[in-house]
Amino acid sequence: MYVLEVKNLTAGYEKLRIVRNINLALEKGEVLSILGPNGAGKSTLLNAIFGIARIFEGKIILNSKEITGKKPYEIARLGIGYTPQIQNVFPNLTVEENLELSAFKRNGVDVKKEIESIFNLFPEIERRRKNLAKTLSGGERQMLAMARALISRPSVLLLDEPTAGLSPKATSVLLKKVKDIIELNVSVILVEQNVTKALETSNRVAVLVGGEFVYQGNANELTREDIEKMFFGEKIKQEL
Ligand SMILES: Nc1ncnc2c1ncn2[C@@H]1O[C@H](COP(=O)(O)OP(=O)(O)O)[C@@H](O)[C@H]1O
Ligand SMILES: [Mg+2]
Repeated sequence: MYVLEVKNLTAGYEKLRIVRNINLALEKGEVLSILGPNGAGKSTLLNAIFGIARIFEGKIILNSKEITGKKPYEIARLGIGYTPQIQNVFPNLTVEENLELSAFKRNGVDVKKEIESIFNLFPEIERRRKNLAKTLSGGERQMLAMARALISRPSVLLLDEPTAGLSPKATSVLLKKVKDIIELNVSVILVEQNVTKALETSNRVAVLVGGEFVYQGNANELTREDIEKMFFGEKIKQEL
């Protein structure tokens, strides 16, 4: 039983088909990294799963329920959390206010309790709960963005380049959090530009080049060099 399945998906914006023939299946408790050069369509694929991009063809199934064509707020309610690449926090609200806004999306939740429980995972931002989000470091800001997506207790978390622009140390701290999240029964799709770190963090990788997957396999099956060659069009192994 898969948590999330994407079947033969073609998606993009208006008349543009950006990602094509995408098939993927995410198991419970798994981190799947999506790797690929700039402009490959990684963000578009996440946007399609979350109901933001236009879907031309194919199906998206979450916990055995088809979500193709649903609106982002419905998809969030059904169990997908999304941390987009940019503008993922409100800079002029405090940490706490950012979290309160996400928590209010669900009916009948004890917002205070939810926030305290999310702080167990992110003590770094608990210390800064009264501070404006714009005063956080890059790493803390990404933690806040992740916390916002997690507060609605999704079964799948989509993370788009959470480590972009972070120092090596902040990158390691953040990716360690991704592993902690798995313990909470959340499955993760991670778009990551640091191939080495992605291989360390994930169970499986999928390589997206020019809008199509050119490789999917276990993270321990290949090296950074193998993957980076694929970015430039070399085919190492074809498993699709
Ligand atoms: N809102 C949009 N409307 C039209 N084209 C877009 C839009 N967003 C991205 N694109 C185009 O889609 C392609 C893939 O972009 P993107 O999904 O952001 O790639 P990646 O995340 O892999 O860098 C690029 O050619 C980009 O210019
Ligand atoms: Mg992107």
